[in-house]
Parts: sequence; C-alpha cells; structure tokens
Amino acid sequence: MVLEVKRPTMSNNRRGFYVRMKLLHRHAGLQQQEKKKNLCFKYYKWLLWVSLLLYFLSSCFFTHKPVPLSKTHVSESKTVVSRALFESSNSTFIQQSKNINRGLLKDLKVYIYELPSKYNTDWLANERCSNHLFASEVAIHKALANSLDVRTFDPYEADFFFVPVYVSCNFSTVNGFPAIGHARSLLSSAVQLISSNYPFWNRSQGSDHVFVASHDYGACFHAMEERAMEDGIPEFLKRSIILQTFGVKFNHPCQDVENVVIPPYISPESVRTTLKKYPLTGRRDIWAFFRGKMEVHPKNISGRYYSKKVRTVIWRKYSGDRRFYLQRHRFAGYQSEIVRSVFCLCPLGWAPWSPRLVESVALGCVPVIIADGIRLPYPTSVRWSEISLTVAEKDVANLGTLLDQVAATNLSAIQKNLWGPDVRRALLFNDPVQEGDATWQVLYALAQKLDRSYRTVRLSNQ
Ligand SMILES: *[C@@H]1O[C@H](CO)[C@@H](O)[C@H](O)[C@H]1NC(C)=O
Ligand SMILES: *[C@@H]1O[C@H](CO)[C@@H](O)[C@H](O)[C@H]1NC(C)=O
Ligand SMILES: *[C@@H]1O[C@H](CO)[C@@H](O)[C@H](O)[C@H]1NC(C)=O
Ligand SMILES: *[C@@H]1O[C@H](CO)[C@@H](O)[C@H](O)[C@H]1NC(C)=O
Ligand SMILES: *[C@@H]1O[C@H](CO)[C@@H](O)[C@H](O)[C@H]1NC(C)=O
Repeated sequence: MVLEVKRPTMSNNRRGFYVRMKLLHRHAGLQQQEKKKNLCFKYYKWLLWVSLLLYFLSSCFFTHKPVPLSKTHVSESKTVVSRALFESSNSTFIQQSKNINRGLLKDLKVYIYELPSKYNTDWLANERCSNHLFASEVAIHKALANSLDVRTFDPYEADFFFVPVYVSCNFSTVNGFPAIGHARSLLSSAVQLISSNYPFWNRSQGSDHVFVASHDYGACFHAMEERAMEDGIPEFLKRSIILQTFGVKFNHPCQDVENVVIPPYISPESVRTTLKKYPLTGRRDIWAFFRGKMEVHPKNISGRYYSKKVRTVIWRKYSGDRRFYLQRHRFAGYQSEIVRSVFCLCPLGWAPWSPRLVESVALGCVPVIIADGIRLPYPTSVRWSEISLTVAEKDVANLGTLLDQVAATNLSAIQKNLWGPDVRRALLFNDPVQEGDATWQVLYALAQKLDRSYRTVRLSNQ
C-alpha cells in the first residue's frame, strides 16, 4: 500500500524538477542580459551545473523502471516480490526450487526469525563454522532461507518457526573442539528476545518453534554423557521441536523432547569432489575400513570407557588381519579411502552417532553400525536395514566372520540398494534444498507434525 502511494508522489517530484529547472534557466538568462558581470556569469555557470546535475540525477532515478515496477507487486503478495527479486539475482536456484514436491510437504510454511548477528552469522567469520561436523545448524538455516517454496516472510502464515542460533562455533583455543558451555545462555537469550518481541512463542509456549542441537547429546549441551544427562534439556526448550544428531531407541533425558534425528554435517562438495576422482562403482580394493581413535588401553573416565571399549576390541582383534585397513591417525584424504572400501566400520565414540555413517553412505561403502540402540536419521525415507549392517557391541569380536558371511551371501544386494541416488541424497544438506535431501527430510518430518502448528490447528478447528 505504501509503495502504491509513493509512485504518484515520485512523478509529482519529476514534474517539480522540470519546473524548477526552467525557472532557474530564465532567471539566470535575464541577469546575464542586464548586467553582464563576471560574477553573475560565474553564478550562472554554477547554477547551470547544479541544474544539470539535478537533471541527471532525476533522469537516472526515473528511467530505472524495474525497481518501482516490481515493487508494486509487494502490495499483492509478499511471496511474489521475494520470487521476483530472487529471479533477477539467481535463476538457477528458482529452477531447482521448483523441483520440490509441495504435495509431500503438505504446503508447509516455515518462518525464520531475523535475529541479531551475534546469534548466528557473526560466527561465520571462522570458516570452520559452516563446514565441521556440527554445521547442520548453519546448513539448515541457509537452505531454509533460500527455499522460497517453504519459507514464508509472513509469520502469521507460518506453521513452524525456525530459530537460527549457532552454538557450535565457539572453538576452543586449546584443542580446537567446539566449546558449548555458552549454548544454554545464548539460546535462552534468543528465546527471551523472540518471546518478548513477537506474539508467536507465547501463544504456543514454543511448541511450533524449531531449534537445531547438533552436538553429541542434543539439547543437553554437554560433551560428556554423565553431565549431559544430569543437566538435561533446558526447561525453556522442552516444549519445542529439536533437530538433533543424537538419538537412541531407549529412554534418555537428552531426547526427552519432540525431536527429529538428523545426520551430522558432511560437505556435499567434498563428497562430489571425491566421487569425481573415484566413481561410486569403481574398484573397492579395501575390504573393511576404519580410521579414527582406537585406544589400546582406554582410560576409566568417571566409570566410562571411550567407545565402551568397542574400538579397543576392533584394534586388538583385527589390526593384524590383512583384510582390515585400520588407521589411528587423522588423514585429510580419508574420503578417498572410504570410496575404495567395501565395508566401513561405524562404531560408537562417546556418543552413538558418527559422521562416518554419512560418509560411508554418500560414498557407497556399506556401513557396519556398531552402536547398540542407535536411532538413525530419517527411517521412513532411508531403509537402513537394506543398506547397512548392524553388529551388536558384544559381537564385535566376531566381526570378521560376520562380514565374511555377508560377502558370501547378500553383499551385492546391499550395495545395489546403497548405490541408488535417493539414499545417498537424503543424508547431505544442499544449498538450496533439493527434493529428498537432508533439509527436505527435516521439512518432511515437520509436515508429519502439523498437529503442533498453532496455525493449522486453529484453522481446522474453525
Ligand atoms: C546461483 O545459484 C547456484 C546454485 O546454488 C550457485 O551455484 C551460483 O553460484 C549462484 N549464482 C549467483 C550469482 O549467486
Ligand atoms: C566461548 O567459550 C568460552 C569457553 O567456554 C567462554 O568463556 C566464552 O564466553 C564463549 N564465548 C561466547 C561468545 O559465548
Ligand atoms: C510473553 O510472556 C512473557 C512471560 O510471561 C512476557 O514477559 C512477555 O512480555 C510476553 N510476550 C508478549 C509479546 O506478550
Ligand atoms: C572407574 O572409575 C570409577 C570412578 O570414577 C570407579 O567407581 C570404578 O570402580 C572404576 N572402574 C574400574 C574398572 O576401575
Ligand atoms: C544380509 O545378511 C545379513 C547376515 O546374514 C543379515 O543380517 C542382513 O539382514 C541381510 N541384509 C539384507 C539387506 O538382506
């Protein structure tokens, strides 16, 4: 509305400019005729410059038609203008975005809060923030922001409210690990901010609000399970929806909240780069692969042992077995090892989940999951039992025999399922969202929770 009023005002101004310029010219001309003084000539010249300048400025402004024209659409619909603006800046995206199947997502609408940059984008100054293991908090925010089919700029139209707070990018100067001690206070202040400035939190007690908690124990925000369980999920988050990498099939205080299990973040570019060099169906000359921490003598840390000693057993039992390629040191090119392997071991660490799961699937290596009770991401889209093997923690000493059995019977069936594009897409966060990818799966999961949407529930009650 405001903009429609503005347009006539602008053309009035235009006329105003012409009138004033004519007056200026005549006035200057008369003065020159009468007195022909140098001073006046300078004055005239100055005026001429000013009026020329004004003329150029005004013509420049008014001949640039596309801006006011596309802006008039604003009054009709906010979505129209955002699309129009986007189309002018990046048309590739619009094409990809149209692929998204709106039917499966039940016309879901998500509103993204605009928070001060200290809650999110300030952290991106460190490049690691958008690339490390916990970076799904950044990736989901970016992908949703660019997903014009699902994103709404009108919060009254939204089914869900995404609260973009990055809590995993405060990297310790000592060991480089993300320090998450500040997570509770940062999130609490974000909730304080949105609940006092918008009506949407209070009307639903936050139950249609969505957060990402991508570290070891989800919204418990502590890297050690004991402490995480003790601290529990902060009271102010308990009614919301948490997107978390942590998930187990039994009761656990760190999933005592409405949640969606998401995969850890692996850069889709890194996977594409690896697959360019080593095709998915190429030669796999490594039979069973694992690279990571394997302690020979694990320490007793407040009654717990890293990986519940599973990795220790793997090392002791199989480091001398030529079929097993086991490495204990970091190596940046490890993706090239995964893509050359038949089986990739994914044992628990402190937490049951591991980035290896995503990398194995994305690079076509059959994941061998050794983490009792783990709840895997997106089970309705990814049929895990058909693309992976699960080995009980207590059976890890028989790993060699179990893998032999599979290799002799159903390995090629598993690989065939695993190498389909759908499964591999589901675990990667693309920007923009692609149908079936990891962010899309989040939206799909949210679409199954529309009963929590204040807007949807109110509409259906009317
Ligand atoms: C447009 O979007 C595509 C796909 O995300 C991206 O690769 C490209 O860099 C973008 N171009 C511009 C100009 O932003
Ligand atoms: C980052 O973590 C350190 C160590 O836990 C903490 O002292 C600091 O306040 C945190 N920084 C922010 C901006 O929260
Ligand atoms: C929401 O509730 C809190 C606590 O009762 C209150 O302080 C706040 O002002 C309310 N927000 C709005 C927008 O009314
Ligand atoms: C491990 O340490 C805890 C105390 O932190 C102790 O109670 C327990 O007995 C220890 N276990 C072993 C096997 O030493
Ligand atoms: C393959 O065989 C193993 C061991 O016999 C079995 O546990 C698994 O379910 C089978 N997987 C598929 C996809 O057939």
